[in-house]
Amino acid sequence: MPIPKAELHLHIEGTLEPELAFALAARNGVQLPYADTEELRKAYLFEDLQSFLDLYYGLMAVLRTEADFEKLADAYLARAAAQGVRHAEIFFDPQAHIARGVGMGTVVEGLGRALDRSAERHGISTRLIMCFLRDQSAESAMATLEAAKPYLHRITGVGLDSAEVGHPPAKFAAVYEAAGALGLRKVAHAGEEGPAAYVSEALDVLGVERIDHGLRCMEDPDLVERLVRERVPLTLCPLSNVRLRAVDILEEHPLPRMMAAGLLCTLNSDDPAYFGGYVGDTFHAVHEALGIDPEGLRELARNSFEAAFLDGSAADEALRERYLAEVAAYEFE
Ligand code: HPA
Ligand code: ZN
Repeated sequence: MPIPKAELHLHIEGTLEPELAFALAARNGVQLPYADTEELRKAYLFEDLQSFLDLYYGLMAVLRTEADFEKLADAYLARAAAQGVRHAEIFFDPQAHIARGVGMGTVVEGLGRALDRSAERHGISTRLIMCFLRDQSAESAMATLEAAKPYLHRITGVGLDSAEVGHPPAKFAAVYEAAGALGLRKVAHAGEEGPAAYVSEALDVLGVERIDHGLRCMEDPDLVERLVRERVPLTLCPLSNVRLRAVDILEEHPLPRMMAAGLLCTLNSDDPAYFGGYVGDTFHAVHEALGIDPEGLRELARNSFEAAFLDGSAADEALRERYLAEVAAYEFE
């Protein structure tokens, strides 16, 4: 069994495997612009974040009903469980669905059906994090938060994703303030393609508790020192960084330098159907390509539970302690 871990940076729409995409397309009468799964997989050669996002949003056309979202999440949870995931904090992109005429309720209730059975069926505790698309307007984000109000019992926090450059965190100051007032936790993608300054801005202006990616903090030593001092978790996604060309090859990923600097790093899969691996594969890949040794892998697994939103209640804290004990006791083969 792989080491127990939490996954904190996972876009549920990015778990749509080609086989499921074609099955849902057939069920819903949606015509995909690819002959078959093989031809679709051949399109997974990305030049940057935007070229990935174009395909990612396009393929969402097959997701139409609650049952589709339930199937998507259940398939992810089954794969994640096989790779040692014990807790998953799952992003979803409601604006991409609402724009296609698929309502907030369909998305949240469909995902919720799978999540409700996850502990029993897959041994994974779950949280949902609703992301705003940063290349859409601040008004649209606020309307999305409003649309989520009937479903807040299912939503733990808010995040910020999609095309980063030119869409700084401060654009979303008002909606993050409103989300905070509703008791939602806050994270944001920053420093993936955008500059290190977006990382500081997400902390200072949005008040986020974790940074998704944050890779480019390494360009600013003062920022690194701050992230270490404040113990701000970074949800790193090395396989994504290679596929989206944030780094040339995995062997050049800054993860070892980031860990050596004392940053609170976690490993995640981002959009595993598109980037060549789930989170267990990611642990394996950084061991092979970057020489992260078993104690390094244990640190990454421990960090993932420390950075998880498992602090809302005594039951949450007890669950975190249980997971941390499993990590401490884990014996590598
Ligand atoms: N970055 C930004 N937005 C996203 C990503 C990503 O890696 N995946 C899905 N939406
Ligand atoms: Zn992401």
